[in-house]
Amino acid sequence: MKRRVTKAIFPVAGLGTRFLPATKSVPKEIMTLVDRPLIQYAIDEARAAGIKEFIFVTSRGKSALEDYFDMAPHLESELRKKDKTELLDVLKSTNMDSGAIAYIRQQRALGLGHAVWCARRLVHNEPFAVILPDDVIAAEKPCLQQMVEAYEETGGSMVAAMEVPADKASSYGVIDIKEDFGSMVSVKGLVEKPKPEEAPSNLAVIGRYILSPKIMQNLNKMKTGSGGEVQLTDAIDAELQNDRDVFGFRFRGQRFDCGSKAGFLQATVAFGLAREELKEEFGGYLNELMSMRQAAQ
Ligand code: G1P
Repeated sequence: MKRRVTKAIFPVAGLGTRFLPATKSVPKEIMTLVDRPLIQYAIDEARAAGIKEFIFVTSRGKSALEDYFDMAPHLESELRKKDKTELLDVLKSTNMDSGAIAYIRQQRALGLGHAVWCARRLVHNEPFAVILPDDVIAAEKPCLQQMVEAYEETGGSMVAAMEVPADKASSYGVIDIKEDFGSMVSVKGLVEKPKPEEAPSNLAVIGRYILSPKIMQNLNKMKTGSGGEVQLTDAIDAELQNDRDVFGFRFRGQRFDCGSKAGFLQATVAFGLAREELKEEFGGYLNELMSMRQAAQ
């Protein structure tokens, strides 16, 4: 049986306080890496993985996100008049099919698990993906596509996984490994933001998930966990108590934590250097900067 995943949830309700004052009026997900908003990277990754329905869990002050996915007829006609076909193509590539996007409001910030649960009625009884747009992953084959392919073999629920330095594990959901198969591990337990001495491993959950619809039932209990919030990690862990499989998938690619300023800057440099039209000028500038810094030491 083919297990098809066609729906993805994008939790985008967060206030983005780490990026104040920018996020006072601009949703964090609209902040740009080079010239594309963070959310566009997430959408493109979902599309590559075969996702057809895009569910955004938003909150007050996120209307710029909805506008971003609307058609821009005025802009398009101006570009057409001026024969700017390349820019027109760039713009068109961001258009979404009518009816492909749904917006749900998370009225209170009760945690990632609660945000995902808010989309339960749109998910029905199908497996679904969750993408956290803060985690940007540069990869030859997009991360979610790698996961969808692996999931066709395994079923169950699957989280993206990556080894992190041991002293950083307490910033993540952490995997207690049952069996290690290399690119895949079977999971014995999951702990959200464990105390350093209690982390079961340094294999961290990264913001890509393929989840069984049963997760929504687990979330119905609204059990609070780390930080007093309803944690998605706990709802996935509950699958194991019900004897259902959970896998960790070590994706091939480089992950940037765009929820932090340093991570965002690193991603900006990496994506800038990866651009054909920028790499000479921008790369040259970075080299110059490095030699100036070295000379000053
Ligand atoms: C969330 C999840 C956590 C995961 C992390 C990955 O945490 O709760 O399990 O490891 O994303 O980025 P957050 O970073 O939103 O606190």
